[in-house]
Amino acid sequence: MENNSSIALLVSYATKGGDGPHSYKQNSSIQRGIIEAARKLTQDSIAENFDPKTLSGSSPIPICIADLGCSAGPNTYFAVQHIIEAIEFQYQSHGLPVPEFQVFFNDQFPNDFNTLFGNFPLKRNYFAAGVPGSFYGRLFPKESICFFHSSSALHSISEVPKEITEKTSAAWNKGRIHYANAPKEVFGAYANQYQKDMEAFLHCRAQELVGNGLMVLQIPTIPDEILDPNVYAGKDFELLGSCLVDMAKVGLVTEEKVDSFNLPIFHSTAKDLKEIFEKNDDFIIEKMEAIGSPNLFPEDVHIMIKHWRAGLQGLIESHFGEGIVDELFDRFTKKVVESPEIVKETMQGLVVLFVLLKRKPHDA
Ligand SMILES: C[S@@+](CC[C@H](N)C(=O)[O-])C[C@H]1O[C@@H](n2cnc3c(N)ncnc32)[C@H](O)[C@@H]1O
Repeated sequence: MENNSSIALLVSYATKGGDGPHSYKQNSSIQRGIIEAARKLTQDSIAENFDPKTLSGSSPIPICIADLGCSAGPNTYFAVQHIIEAIEFQYQSHGLPVPEFQVFFNDQFPNDFNTLFGNFPLKRNYFAAGVPGSFYGRLFPKESICFFHSSSALHSISEVPKEITEKTSAAWNKGRIHYANAPKEVFGAYANQYQKDMEAFLHCRAQELVGNGLMVLQIPTIPDEILDPNVYAGKDFELLGSCLVDMAKVGLVTEEKVDSFNLPIFHSTAKDLKEIFEKNDDFIIEKMEAIGSPNLFPEDVHIMIKHWRAGLQGLIESHFGEGIVDELFDRFTKKVVESPEIVKETMQGLVVLFVLLKRKPHDA
């Protein structure tokens, strides 16, 4: 296995586990909507590009599939089922016996794998295993996976860029938790980190995927035509950060804690992502298009807020400790209700990209 020297710096946090009112399980209908909206594209991609006769690698049978950033369910079950149905069909239509399937469910170490496996669909036609660890490093043996899938996860970066937490740096992000309305150096540091991470992601997957294997990614991005992503993107996070600053003013958290907290999230444009994919010699971009559903994000801001909380609570608690999340989200809810257009505009401005990459044969 490759030595990944930056492993100690990797951010490791998880969505809210269990099945309580704040859990990811109860608050992930938007991400489910993305998987449903991508279903036809995914299945068509398999029909057009997954050829059982051309797969190479040490063990294409059983067919190994991995969902990267699967969380604690239930959305991953649906994504995996769509993929297996389409691959089975490929075998049948080539007159080949349907193979056995092995599915690997990957997420960060603190992910609630118990809830994930405890709620598995009763009827499933695959063997399942959990693979904890960051998808920015190696997760699987060489040429062992035929199909990678990842949905709503590749906007997370592996670590907060160091310079934005350093007081002496031009990129010090004092009093903010993200890059909206921050000095351009902050945005630049995030953008560099994202590029490095995506390159590492592609490098690792290229080794793990069999020749002619496929990778389907659904990635939240911002439109190419946004002139200043530094101003546009992350208005919602700017509002959340302002609540933490308010809490510091009344002594509920320390200013130092707020200054050292930054969200490991970055929204690229499709154009920049395409450049990163094109620079990689191991993959062919077979498809890259926006998922065309105007209704991915709910009108009701309270639903949005619950989704944010389910996604961010673990991260916030790992930095500030338990006990501030209720207060923080009460304050955030008040601000969002006062100016709901900020959140709606930000969310409705996100473009979810569907990307299909094909691994070139390994000896090509
Ligand atoms: C918004 S959830 C999406 C979950 C699921 N794919 C879905 O569509 O519902 C993002 C998931 O990606 C995981 N994640 C983020 N960064 C990761 C990394 N570097 N390695 C593995 N998982 C990661 C998070 O822990 C989280 O469970």
